[in-house]
Amino acid sequence: MKVLVTGGAGFIGSNLVKRLVEDRHEVVVLDNFLSGHRKNLAPFPQVRLVEGDTRNAEDVDRSMEGAEVVFHLAASVGNKRSIDEPRLDADINVMGTVTVLEAARKFRVRKLVASSSAGIFGELRTFPIREDHPVEPDTPYGSSKLCMEKHCLAYAKLYDLEAVCLRYFNVYGPNQRFDAYGNVIPIFVFKMLRGEPITIFGDGDQTRDFVNVRDVVQANLRAASTNGVSGAFNLGSGTRVSINALVKLLKGRTGMKDAAVVYGPPRPGDVRDSLADITASQRAFGYEPSMSLEQGLTEYVQWARQEVEAR
Ligand SMILES: NC(=O)c1ccc[n+]([C@@H]2O[C@H](COP(=O)([O-])OP(=O)(O)OC[C@H]3O[C@@H](n4cnc5c(N)ncnc54)[C@H](O)[C@@H]3O)[C@@H](O)[C@H]2O)c1
Repeated sequence: MKVLVTGGAGFIGSNLVKRLVEDRHEVVVLDNFLSGHRKNLAPFPQVRLVEGDTRNAEDVDRSMEGAEVVFHLAASVGNKRSIDEPRLDADINVMGTVTVLEAARKFRVRKLVASSSAGIFGELRTFPIREDHPVEPDTPYGSSKLCMEKHCLAYAKLYDLEAVCLRYFNVYGPNQRFDAYGNVIPIFVFKMLRGEPITIFGDGDQTRDFVNVRDVVQANLRAASTNGVSGAFNLGSGTRVSINALVKLLKGRTGMKDAAVVYGPPRPGDVRDSLADITASQRAFGYEPSMSLEQGLTEYVQWARQEVEAR
């Protein structure tokens, strides 16, 4: 099957590309390298790379022609970036998506699987978070992702295009960035391995639902191969852990039992608690998380250790 992965040079995209190549699909990647890296695609010379932008109709057309399925991951990613650059966030996440949808309609794509975010919900009101939880984003990112979802689902109603939006909770795994725009697991692991202190924003009792990138890839593939399903679905592990407990797990795995931990003020836009109800994804397309946090962290720390040693 011919597939397009927008944002395929990024963290989740490159993990998805790896699996698609292993499964012998014909893969095209569209990426502008805003936050993606060529080295993430280097192991896959059989992938056709279109260096271009989802906001540019010609680039999108060039990459999408003939594709049966589109995995749309290209985005300005994260709360912090959206607060720093709200115009870029809205431009890429909304207008980029509309450009992708227009091409999908034109080329009669069968299925679009779009990456959304738990950021659409805002502060948790009920627990765990089901798909019908109120959507009151706390950041421009949550708002642009919600708008993206609504566009995808409107196109699914208007045209012969199935659209599934996956609302990822906190994804972690190989190829994830660990700079200021990164997520907590890679930031903590790389700092610990380098012997640097880590900073917890808030008291550390806030909780997160961490989902391994392998399970996110699995969900994308199952959503793509299940016919007759459109909608927005939560995509987490269905479990949660406090940041303090996470630090304990990471200290054990990195061997840095005495790693220095500094507590700072909570960050604007960060929610207190998070936990996905994944029943709907399980029912709709057979999603089943396969990786425990303990196992996932062990594998991730092994990978990160090799990266630190290679740099
Ligand atoms: N990582 C997480 O925990 C998480 C959580 C919720 C949602 N998501 C969503 O998952 C998707 C992938 O995120 P990621 O964590 O892999 O981030 P990432 O930054 O590693 O990947 C995004 C990719 O999109 C590319 N890109 C950005 N703007 C583009 C444009 N206009 N045209 C073409 N390419 C463009 C980037 O260069 C990068 O390769 C995003 O849609 C993100 O919003 C991620």
